Amino acid sequence: MSEPQLAGQTVVVIGGSAGIGLETARLARAEGAEVILVARDRERLERAASEVGARSTAALDATDGGALAQFFEGLPGQIDHVMVTGPGPNYVPLLEMTADQLRHGVGNHLVLTLEVARNAAPKMRPGGSVTVMGGVGGRRIVPGIYSAATAAIPPFAGSLAIELAPVRVNVIAAGFVDTPLSASILGDDLDKRRDELRRTLPIGRVVEPADVAALAVHIMINTALTGATYDIDGGQQLVP
Ligand SMILES: NC(=O)c1ccc[n+]([C@@H]2O[C@H](COP(=O)([O-])OP(=O)(O)OC[C@H]3O[C@@H](n4cnc5c(N)ncnc54)[C@H](OP(=O)(O)O)[C@@H]3O)[C@@H](O)[C@H]2O)c1
Repeated sequence: MSEPQLAGQTVVVIGGSAGIGLETARLARAEGAEVILVARDRERLERAASEVGARSTAALDATDGGALAQFFEGLPGQIDHVMVTGPGPNYVPLLEMTADQLRHGVGNHLVLTLEVARNAAPKMRPGGSVTVMGGVGGRRIVPGIYSAATAAIPPFAGSLAIELAPVRVNVIAAGFVDTPLSASILGDDLDKRRDELRRTLPIGRVVEPADVAALAVHIMINTALTGATYDIDGGQQLVP
């Protein structure tokens, strides 16, 4: 048996009650970390917290800068890692977007990342990390704001990594991951999409939240990683 690699460390998961965040919390716990979960729906959050044995929870909207600042300020002690998941993508066609929706669509994730970094930084230990969920949508053009919004995350995180050092900043760029978010977006087409991915992806299976969690926890553990973006899509980009 190898030693738990996050023993004595504290991990905050923004969006920790479902999908990728919940699996990251579960795996971080298995590696010996204490975890603190943040999400909006209190009931689902408490269920997730007891499932993984979280140290504490905070029910708040992470896009509310004031609530986020208050949360980090009130955290006792130091923290080591923050995983930023949270709000899902916006698929409104560009010509149907208002100027405000466009600003929000592009800026949403960057603002969230910045506010997390700004407020978490004073509490973080050197060598700790902020890991941001992005997507591979920026690698291939799809309709709407998704490509532009995800393409902006890697250089933003790189610049932030310079300013936040010795705390590290990295991005996970995922393709389709089988989470409640994907289920809600695809509705009745979910099984059709899963079948299509099993047939076409080079890995011959669908990427699961636990796959992404394994990458997220590796990024926390490996102190050589900063300013970088890691794709995890089962080879989705290779499929014509
Ligand atoms: N699934 C994919 O295929 C995929 C691919 C690429 C990138 N991503 C990105 O990865 C992130 C996580 O995706 P997921 O599939 O794991 O989503 P999910 O299954 O819907 O889980 C999202 C989690 O974030 C919380 N959350 C959402 N909005 C929030 C907010 N404003 N403030 C605080 N917590 C919030 C949710 O709880 P509450 O609703 O209770 O707040 C939940 O705990 C998203 O940013 C998504 O865009 C997902």
